[in-house]
Amino acid sequence: MSRILLLHGPNLSQLGARDASVYGTATLDDVVDLATRAAEPAGHEVEGVVSEYEGDLVTRLHEARTDGTDAVIVNAGALTHTSHALADALAILDLPKVEVHLSNIHGREQFRRTSVISPVVDGTIAGFGVNGYALAVGAVIGLLGARAARA
Ligand code: DQA
Repeated sequence: MSRILLLHGPNLSQLGARDASVYGTATLDDVVDLATRAAEPAGHEVEGVVSEYEGDLVTRLHEARTDGTDAVIVNAGALTHTSHALADALAILDLPKVEVHLSNIHGREQFRRTSVISPVVDGTIAGFGVNGYALAVGAVIGLLGARAARA
């Protein structure tokens, strides 16, 4: 049983009320449920954490180093494009790390096309809506398997 931390940043608590043409109609609870159901068959559990505050997200990542977390999936919202603090916190963690975005950030406004966290994660999934979370869980399971094989 592995524990996957599913971390969400600012405004993702408002999913369902945001522009549906960009973010769809699912709520954050729906997203966490979807990820949980994707992880369960492989025997993994998902812990959903959301905060509007950069420092809370940084602190939660610090805790992940020692609290039994095995992998991280992160949608940092707009902090994706600005937060070197979050990038530094992710860099500390020697765990599988996958970045997710509901929208295709590369096809949107210029400021969204740069992710300061992409360099410190294993990979990024963007543009597939909520299905991106199932893809992210699959990616994490693959990364955990590869680590187990190396150990
Ligand atoms: C987002 C993309 C970000 O640019 C935006 O600020 C969000 C959501 C996404 O999931 O597509 O809040 O991370």
